[in-house]
Amino acid sequence: RLLIIDFGSQVTQLIARRLRELHVFCEIHPFNTVDDAFLDEFKPKAVVFSGGPASVFSEGAPRPPAKVFEIGVPILGICYGQQVMMDMLGGKVERGHKTAEFGRAYVTPEAEKLDLLQGWFATDKEQVWMSHGDHVSKIAPGFKVYGTSPNAPFAITADKDRHFYAVQFHPEVHHTPNGAKLYENFVRLAGFKGDWTMSAYREEAVTAIREQVGDKQVICALSGGVDSSVAAALIHEAVGDQLTCVFVDHGLLRKNEAEEVVGMFCDHMNLHVIHADETELFLGKLEGQSDPETKRKIIGGLFIDVFQKYADQIDGAEFLAQGTLYPDVIESVSFSGGPSVTIKSHHNVGGLPEKMGLKLVEPLRELFKDEVRALGAELGLPPSFIGRHPFPGPGLAIRCPGEITREKLDILREADAVYIDQIRKHGLYDEIWQAFCAILPVRTVGVMGDGRTYDFACALRAVTSVDGMTADYYPFSHEFLGETATRIINEVPGINRVTYDITSKPPGTIEWE
Ligand code: XMP
Repeated sequence: RLLIIDFGSQVTQLIARRLRELHVFCEIHPFNTVDDAFLDEFKPKAVVFSGGPASVFSEGAPRPPAKVFEIGVPILGICYGQQVMMDMLGGKVERGHKTAEFGRAYVTPEAEKLDLLQGWFATDKEQVWMSHGDHVSKIAPGFKVYGTSPNAPFAITADKDRHFYAVQFHPEVHHTPNGAKLYENFVRLAGFKGDWTMSAYREEAVTAIREQVGDKQVICALSGGVDSSVAAALIHEAVGDQLTCVFVDHGLLRKNEAEEVVGMFCDHMNLHVIHADETELFLGKLEGQSDPETKRKIIGGLFIDVFQKYADQIDGAEFLAQGTLYPDVIESVSFSGGPSVTIKSHHNVGGLPEKMGLKLVEPLRELFKDEVRALGAELGLPPSFIGRHPFPGPGLAIRCPGEITREKLDILREADAVYIDQIRKHGLYDEIWQAFCAILPVRTVGVMGDGRTYDFACALRAVTSVDGMTADYYPFSHEFLGETATRIINEVPGINRVTYDITSKPPGTIEWE
């Protein structure tokens, strides 16, 4: 295993990601949990020091244990990791706003002289991403310089004998286009074969879940989304019937969704799933409400109440399973108030663990979305399920601007089903991040056959995105849009007008509310 010691960089997870892409198994541990005993137990084959926001000059500056330099394994220090390495091994770090560098820089390397750089530099100047205030001003004894940038005379340094490498830039980020090569060289020279796979991850995760849970009961709010589904499948593999899933059906799901999700998990995967059909409760409380935030708050609050009600019926539940992914985890280390771990409050069950006195099982905390999909496939979830577009916790409520009525929900479900069917038939589903229909709170006049209609209008939405933070509308062909509009109007009573939403995000959001 490779050990990444986290000094609180925002991009530490990307180091892990790059290493997993190289099929190397690694674990990230915050610096304050890594001591001599930890190293003895972990027995890393190589160590990476992440970057971090601190300065080696600040009081209580984070440091690895000195022992890490004595266990005879290769070490790669990134940015702050470089500075702390130099500081501890006898070099010098200086402050200086003049030498601070943030953003793109170009390094001139001496590639041929260092194993770490083999095959990396295509040209004599390679783009890298810098982000540092302090800088190394004198390298430690035994080190040599193998690359410089205008503001970082020690951009790449190494002690070849001890296999200690230290770079000022961030090779893990996108803006260091060829940075992956550096990691590849590092793991090869550390002796990793690169034979770690998702199936190995699965086995390791199963063992870890068993250790954590023991013979206790686990509950899980299954939403039918990819993350909670993969988490549930994995935990089920680990502890079988000790896992009970609660599928909260708020009556705001898409056509056939509840049956499909419950059917798949109960019948296909043999999980214990409680289908909590609370449609009446949710729709009752939403009656007459048209303000988006009020609607969201009602749904969020009821969700927690309902989940708790069902969970209370499960004897001895001690753990709550969540499909938290790496990007959801802000596991950065805080330097002002001492080391702490902050986790973004997640979806609908954010406050539950404390309220119910539950401990968390989060087996996907180290993974990115596409890795979760790969793990889902490994666990036997059908591809069509794993590749599903995201669906928001508040469901169709936020696709039904204004007051929610059963009539509107029914119409929306039908229109959405036709739209998605069209997208699938045209082979576009996987090209689109998210597609759905919204029903507008307006009726318009139309003519069908010889008669006048006065029905609802709907809006089609389809966006491309990487992470949902920004998005662009999908450029459907006019033929596709025309055909889809015709189908919806012909097949869905209650709709006589179809529009296409071409707003990007920002300034729009993906959902309508
Ligand atoms: P917006 O509308 O903010 O959506 O551009 C970005 C992404 O987040 C999803 N979304 C939610 N997901 N609970 C969720 O689980 C929510 O309350 C929620 N609101 C929005 C949305 O579908 C899109 O993928």
